[in-house]
Amino acid sequence: MKLAICPGSFDPVTLGHINIISRASKMFDRVIVVAMVNKDKQPLFSQEERVELLKRATAFLPNVEVDSFDGLLADYAREKNATVIVKGLRALSDFEYEFQMALTNRKLNPSVETVFVTTNAEYMYLSSSLVKQVAGLGGDISEFVPSCIVNDILKKYGRNETK
Ligand code: PNS
Repeated sequence: MKLAICPGSFDPVTLGHINIISRASKMFDRVIVVAMVNKDKQPLFSQEERVELLKRATAFLPNVEVDSFDGLLADYAREKNATVIVKGLRALSDFEYEFQMALTNRKLNPSVETVFVTTNAEYMYLSSSLVKQVAGLGGDISEFVPSCIVNDILKKYGRNETK
């Protein structure tokens, strides 16, 4: 049984994330999506809220579970006996940071390999930060995030819910 971990901040989960997670679910028997704490970012959603949104948005993928962790990803992988970390790569600009994290994680846990999955071209521009910016400024985010979480995001900005 091959297990992979898909870590991230997921603040909030976007259609780009869902695309990577669903492709990972085809490559591995079991996938754990884990909402981590990124100390460099001040999240809009609490860790519990991010888990709840992820659960809703990945409910259609039977071999995908959602979890949260506050600590080192390398330790989480060890705890779960996972040897693969899956990360999405959008553009060259992601690469240096992701490369650095992959090398650090392997140093901290030599049995873990990071596998990069390239984004679908239609999601190349997409990020959680962009979604928050558009939502905060009154724009339409329905093309960027799963429809089942649109209202949760709008609510954070005091906007009226869509039907
Ligand atoms: O979605 P993000 O914010 O790019 O994800 C980054 C994340 C959360 C995967 C990364 O910051 C992380 O793994 N944080 C946990 C702490 C840790 O292990 N830091 C060292 C990684 S090199």
